[in-house]
Amino acid sequence: MSDRSKLIETGTPFQFDPERDAEFERLVTRYPTRESLILPGLWLIQEQEGWVCAEAMAYLADRIGTFASKIYEAATFYTMYNLHPMGEYHICVCRTLSCYLLGKQQIVDYLKEEIGIAPGEISSNGKFSLEEVECLGHCGTAPVVQLNGEFHEDMDVEKMKALLATCK
Ligand code: FES
Repeated sequence: MSDRSKLIETGTPFQFDPERDAEFERLVTRYPTRESLILPGLWLIQEQEGWVCAEAMAYLADRIGTFASKIYEAATFYTMYNLHPMGEYHICVCRTLSCYLLGKQQIVDYLKEEIGIAPGEISSNGKFSLEEVECLGHCGTAPVVQLNGEFHEDMDVEKMKALLATCK
């Protein structure tokens, strides 16, 4: 697994695009405190960029009016936040108990063979990235895979093959 304590700087200032900016302002009216916007704010950054860079964390801290260290703590704790650029198709395979017991390894082995990368890697053409993540919260329908944030449940190698075929 990649080192989640290392931040990547792009050298370019970050800001929300108009759509995310409007969504952030809408969320401000719905959440009880500005600090409770840390997780949804990080999610908006990831929706926009596919990952969360150091500049985006600093931007979110400014927008919320909190310390950048609080954004960093949340972003590095939750594995759902990508801390480095991902492939066009980002595949997350849950590795926690239910998924482990019900065959996540066969899915990971198939993906390693088929797309030629191990968890934590990006394919050389930038098309795929693969990650093993902690429980995705759908344990009753394990094994669970996310493709670009969409859930796919009761997975097996055959279903993974069919899902991969949709990645054009
Ligand atoms: S253990 Fe995989 S979704 Fe919970």
